[in-house]
Amino acid sequence: MSPNKKVAILFLVVLAAICSLDTVISGCCSKTCTDKQKNYILQVCGHYIMASNTRRLPPKSDPCCAAVRTLQSHGEGMMQCVIDLLTHAESEQYNATVMLYLKRYCTQRSSLFALPSAEVMV
Ligand SMILES: *[C@@H]1O[C@H](CO)[C@@H](O)[C@H](O)[C@H]1NC(C)=O
Repeated sequence: MSPNKKVAILFLVVLAAICSLDTVISGCCSKTCTDKQKNYILQVCGHYIMASNTRRLPPKSDPCCAAVRTLQSHGEGMMQCVIDLLTHAESEQYNATVMLYLKRYCTQRSSLFALPSAEVMV
């Protein structure tokens, strides 16, 4: 192997290490969510998180809960991030308290059977 190739491989290894470190860091602390994720949550959970809704929760097998679990699998603060993205009109229409509650409720393990979090493409 030529010294040049060794340098190139070393460079790639270092680059890969930096990239994975970066993923770990961003997975840990910076919560970035997109409008698309927000709209998806509003679309499938809208019914339950309406400010006017009378405290009705989705079953854990509901697409809403599945979407919440998928969202949360991207990081602990994802639901808060989605709430932060709500426009003024949306924050009046939906209840952020309920959204945060759903985050805990839907990601809770059932003591009877652990539902595998459904893989919903967002
Ligand atoms: C949001 O939900 C919480 C918990 O159910 C309730 O106490 C609060 O009054 C609701 N807020 C609005 C604006 O409906």
